[in-house]
Amino acid sequence: MNAKIIGTGWQLPAYEADNDYLSTLVETSDEWITERTGIRKRHLAKEETTTSLAAGAAKKALADAGLPAEEIDLLIVATITSDTVTPSTACRVQAELGAVHAVAFDINAACSGFLYAVHMADAFIKSGVYRKALLIGAETLSKLVDWTDRGTCVLFGDGAGAAVLAASDQGGIAAQSLGSNGSKWEVLSCMGRPNGNPVCREQREPGYLQMNGQEVFKFAVKTVPLCIEDALEKAGLSPDDIDHFLLHQANKRIIQSVAKRLKQPEEKFPMNIGQCANTSAASLPILLAQMKEQGRLHPGEKLVLSGFGAGLTWGACVMEW
Ligand code: ACO
Repeated sequence: MNAKIIGTGWQLPAYEADNDYLSTLVETSDEWITERTGIRKRHLAKEETTTSLAAGAAKKALADAGLPAEEIDLLIVATITSDTVTPSTACRVQAELGAVHAVAFDINAACSGFLYAVHMADAFIKSGVYRKALLIGAETLSKLVDWTDRGTCVLFGDGAGAAVLAASDQGGIAAQSLGSNGSKWEVLSCMGRPNGNPVCREQREPGYLQMNGQEVFKFAVKTVPLCIEDALEKAGLSPDDIDHFLLHQANKRIIQSVAKRLKQPEEKFPMNIGQCANTSAASLPILLAQMKEQGRLHPGEKLVLSGFGAGLTWGACVMEW
C-alpha cells in the first residue's frame, strides 16, 4: 500500500500587494524584484490568519477528495507562523473542520515543512497506523518579516495549501529523500518574541526574519538537485521519466538553475512565484492544488516535489499521480 494524494485545495488572502506598492515602503523597484526573483506580487493577510487560511484550504481539499472531515485520522499543519504558540494551528483547524477523530499537531521545518509532513503521513499510512491524512502548509509570513528590510520583505507572501492522503494500491508516493543541517541555522532565522524571564539574561535580541540570501541561494542550487536525484534513484527513475517538477517557489533563478543541473526543460517546472511569492510551507501544496484545479495533472503522470528552507532543511518526494 502506498499513500496517495486524493484531494487538494488552496487559499490566499484577498489583499494583493504588487512590487510598486512595496517600492512605497522600501527603496526597491518592480524591475529589481522581478529580475532577481520572478516575483510580481504577493497576497498579504488583512483579516485572514494562519488558521483561517489553513481551514479554507483544508475544506477545499476535503471537498475535492469527497471525504467528510470525520474520516480524517491524522491532521498535520506545517507552519512557522502559527497564530498561537500553543495550541497548535492543527488543533484549531481540527475544531474548525470538525475533524473529531484526527490526531492533530504542527511541524516546523520552514519551507520544507510540507514535504516533512508528507514523509510522516506516508510512513504512518504504509504502516497502517493511520488511514487518511490531511496535510496543510499554511503561513502568514507577513507578521515575521521586517518591513523596513528590502532584502527580505519583497520575497514573502501569505497563503495555505492542503492535500488529503489515503492508502492506495495504485500509484502514490514512490520514494522520498529528506535532510537537515542544523549547523547552518543562522543563515536563515527568526528569534521571535522577547524573553520576559526575570532570572534569564538573553544573549540574543529578539527580532524579525533575517536571512543571508546569497548563502541560501548557493545551498539551494547545490542541494536540491542532489536531493531530487537521490529520491529518483530510490524510485528507480531518472529525471527524464518525470512529467512535472514542483519546486519550492522561493526564486525563479533557483528553479531555472535546478532545471539546468538536472538537464530538463524549464516547461517541466511550473511556477506561481510571480503571483504568490515565497509562502514557505504553503508554497508546494498551493502550487500542487492550483495545477490540479487547472487540469494540468493527469493519472499516471510522475511528479517530483522538492523544497528547501530554514534549519537548514530540504526534501524531495517522487510520486505517481
Ligand atoms: N531592491 C533593490 N535592491 C536590493 C533589494 C531590493 N529589494 N534587496 C537587496 N538589494 C540590493 C543589495 O543591497 C545589494 O546592493 P549593493 O550591491 O549596493 O550592496 C544588491 O541589491 C545585490 O544584493 P544581493 O543580496 O547580492 O542580491 P542577490 O542577487 O543575491 O539577490 C536574493 C538577493 C533575491 C535574496 C537572492 O539571494 C535569493 O533569492 N536568495 C535565496 C533566498 C531564499 O530562497 N530564501 C527563502 C528560503 S525559504 C525559508 O525557509 C523561509
